[in-house]
Amino acid sequence: MKVLAIETATRVTSVALIDDKGTDIEIAPDVILAHTELLPELIMKVLLKDNTTLQEIDAFAVSIGPGSFTGIRVGVTTARTLGQCLGKPVIGIPTLDGLIWSERESDDLGCPMIDALRNAVYTTLFHHRERLMDYHLADIHDWLVELKAKNRAVYFVGDGAQKYHDLIMEQLGDLATFALPALNRARARSIAKIALDKLIAGETQSYKDTMPLYIRRSDAEEKREQAEQATSISSSEGLVLRKMTSQDLPQIQEIEKQSFSTPWELQLFMGELKLPFAHFYVLEEHKKIIGYCGFWLGEQEAHIVTLAICQEKRRKGLGSMLVTRMLEQAKPLGATRAVLEVRVSNDPAIRLYEKCGFSRGAIHRKYYGDNDEDALTMLRDIP
Ligand SMILES: CC(C)(COP(=O)(O)OP(=O)(O)OC[C@H]1O[C@@H](n2cnc3c(N)ncnc32)[C@H](O)[C@@H]1OP(=O)(O)O)[C@@H](O)C(=O)NCCC(=O)NCCS
Repeated sequence: MKVLAIETATRVTSVALIDDKGTDIEIAPDVILAHTELLPELIMKVLLKDNTTLQEIDAFAVSIGPGSFTGIRVGVTTARTLGQCLGKPVIGIPTLDGLIWSERESDDLGCPMIDALRNAVYTTLFHHRERLMDYHLADIHDWLVELKAKNRAVYFVGDGAQKYHDLIMEQLGDLATFALPALNRARARSIAKIALDKLIAGETQSYKDTMPLYIRRSDAEEKREQAEQATSISSSEGLVLRKMTSQDLPQIQEIEKQSFSTPWELQLFMGELKLPFAHFYVLEEHKKIIGYCGFWLGEQEAHIVTLAICQEKRRKGLGSMLVTRMLEQAKPLGATRAVLEVRVSNDPAIRLYEKCGFSRGAIHRKYYGDNDEDALTMLRDIP
């Protein structure tokens, strides 16, 4: 039984091919990011090394996160497409399971940690093969206090463990042990091994059921952040910028309908608000929503995914002000550049983005499914 596994959930891509007869091939180049460019080449290389064709693979496995949202999307989409086209199962494995895989026999608690920026880590806790709690996003300080209270030896692994090594030592001292540096990197080989066990045990999935594992922040944390981030822009005009919440969606849908030929459905916005890497803001005038903008925060990149101003408030500088504010929000979160796609026919928006310092990049042919329109990529640095 052959499994081809993809790991793109963190900063480095790898692909592995293993079977139950001893084949064990992994290609894991030391290239940071570039998931989209590397993945097809790596898949071809492992197949060539084993002299195997895609048709001979019995299941595809993919690391489903949590981790880098762009990477997870690339990996999951690729695995699902392969599974669908070849009629093979696709087994989704949580990235944290892959990280802890080599240490499941140890008697210490196992704590895989993936850096989630802003003093947060994606984490959970294992003992042997059993996961003791949900995968979750934790403030590193709170999480270490919780671990210390357990008064148990803990083995740490992952780029979060590497980043917060000193802090962990401060809190847990001798109770903490650390993975060898090479093991801190999420690897396709571990994903493949877990998936092969599942394949042998008959625990497979259809490509349709293989979904990214996105972990949202707690409601309390979101509310606190929203209160902290509400910014008065002009008290005389009653203009306020604040985080979008699900209660805003009926008003937002009205503006969507005025603004786009294919407005986003309510469910889509609901999903977006749950994504830990999505940052959506509304602009209010005397408590009425008059515009909104959202970006996804990737590895040092803010990807603006929506922007609209209600019809009666356009051409007053609000759209460009919102974009500028988004860049200001993204910068302290680590973004050094912003990117977006816009319909090539959307002259007002293209001019607006140029006014905000974006320059024209590549054209994606037939990017928009409703009318096969091309998309223009626009980019700018966030100095
Ligand atoms: C695009 C949009 C957000 C612009 O909002 P806005 O508040 O009107 O924009 P601003 O007033 O800040 O305009 C900034 C610049 O954009 C350009 N611009 C905006 N609207 C324009 C229009 N209708 N025609 C030509 N240029 C326009 C101008 O260069 C303008 O600068 P200027 O007023 O000094 O000439 C708004 O038209 C909208 O919601 N459109 C529908 C949704 C949409 O297309 N979103 C973009 C998706 S990528």
